Amino acid sequence: MKKLRRRFGRGPVELVLPGRRIVVILDAEDVGRVLAGAPEPFHPANREKRKALQWFQPHGVLISQGPIRQRRRQVNEAVLDFGSDLHRLAPAFIEVISEEVAGLIDDVTRDGSIDSARFMTAWWQLVRRLMFGRAARDDEQVTDSLLRLRKAGNWSFLSLPHYRERAKFFEQLYRYAEDPEPDTLVAQVASASASGAVDPVGQMPQWLFAFDAAGMALLRTLALLATHPAQMTRAIEDSVTPNVPLVRSYLRSCVLESVRLWPTTPTILRDTTAATEWRDGVERFSVAPGAGLMIVTPAFHRDDDLLPFAHQFVPDIWLDGSAMNYPQLVPFSAGPAECPGRDLVLFTTSSVLAHLLDTFDIRLSSQPELSPGEPLPMTLNQLTLNFAVTTAARLQGTAT
Ligand code: HEM
Repeated sequence: MKKLRRRFGRGPVELVLPGRRIVVILDAEDVGRVLAGAPEPFHPANREKRKALQWFQPHGVLISQGPIRQRRRQVNEAVLDFGSDLHRLAPAFIEVISEEVAGLIDDVTRDGSIDSARFMTAWWQLVRRLMFGRAARDDEQVTDSLLRLRKAGNWSFLSLPHYRERAKFFEQLYRYAEDPEPDTLVAQVASASASGAVDPVGQMPQWLFAFDAAGMALLRTLALLATHPAQMTRAIEDSVTPNVPLVRSYLRSCVLESVRLWPTTPTILRDTTAATEWRDGVERFSVAPGAGLMIVTPAFHRDDDLLPFAHQFVPDIWLDGSAMNYPQLVPFSAGPAECPGRDLVLFTTSSVLAHLLDTFDIRLSSQPELSPGEPLPMTLNQLTLNFAVTTAARLQGTAT
C-alpha cells in the first residue's frame, strides 16, 4: 500500500483483472467517503463477499441487495441494541458471563495458565448461552458446523457444497427459535416484528460467526494488557471499581484498540452501483458502475506517515476523541453499514476482561514478546497465545 501511495498519490488505483475491475482505496478521506456512501453508490453486498457468504447466511444483511437490506438492517440494529452501551438484556447477560468465566477461572487456577484453545472453548460456551440459552451451552455441533461451512464458503470455487451439514445447521438454528429460552438473542429474534422476506433468524449465522472475531479480539487485548503495565493498571482500576451501570469505558477502548492494531476484517469490500468520481491529486476521473472497491484496513490503521501512534497500544485515542480525527480508523467499519454488533461485542468482551483482571495477575508466556517500547508486530496469531496466571497479589490471603 505504501508503494502504491508513493507511485499513485491519493489514488485510488484501478486494477484491471480478467472479468473484474477492482479499485484500491489509498486515501484516508476516501475511506470515510466510501463507508458513508453505503448502500448507494458503494454497496456492501460485493460480488466476492456474496460468493463467500451466501452458502451459510443467504439472507444476512451483509449480502442483501435491494430494499430488503434496510429492513434486515433494522432487525439487526433492534435485536443487537446498536447504539446503546448496555444491551437491554445486560443484567441477564452479566449473570451468564459471571457464571461462565467463574468456570474458566476455576480451571485455569488449577493449571496456572490459560491457552488460546481453553479460552475459546469457554468463549463459545458463553456465546452459545447468550445466543440460544443454557440448552445450547454444550452444543458444539452448531458452532463447529458454522465454522466448517464458512471455510467451505471461502473455498467455494474448489470444494463441493456440504449440503447435509448445511441442512443440519439451519434445522438446529430454527429449532432454537421455535421454543426460545427467555433472555437470549434468539428469543428477541423470534419476537421481532418483520415481514415474511426479512427472515430475522436468518441474520443469526452472521452473528454466531462474528463472535469468533470477538473472541480473537479479546485474546489479543489480553496479550496487550499483559505486556503493557501502565495500561494494565488502568484496566484493573476499571475492572475492580464497582461500576454501575457496568460501562467499563477503559476496557472497551482497549478492545477497540486491539482491533485497530489487528483488524479482524482486514479488507472491507464494496461494489459501486453508479458511476463514481475520483481525483488522484493530479486529475479527476470516473469509475464505471460495477467495480469492486477494496479498503485494506491494516494499511490505514498502521499508517505511520499519518498516525503518530501507528504501532503503539494507545486505548486513550478512543476516549479522548482523537480517533475521531482519523476517518480511516474503522475497526467496526463506519457509516450506514457499520457493524451493528459493535456495542454488544464491547459490552461482552469488556465484561469478560473485567472478571479475569479482577482475579488474576496475568503474564504473556508465549512468543512473540510484545513490548511498550517496540513497534507492535503487524499480525498476532491468537491461536498460539499463552498466559501464565496467578491469583492477583491484592487478593492473596483473602481467599477462604
Ligand atoms: C470483534 C468483533 C467484531 C468486529 C471487529 C466486527 C467488525 C465488522 C465490520 C468491519 C463489518 C463490516 C463488514 C463489511 O462491510 O464488509 C461488520 C459487519 C457486521 N457485523 Fe460485525 N464485527 C464484530 C462482531 C460482530 C458480532 C458479534 C455481531 C453480531 C452479534 C456482528 C454483526 C455484524 C453484522 C450484522 C454486520 C453487517 C452489517 C451490514 O451490512 O449492515 N459483528 N462487522
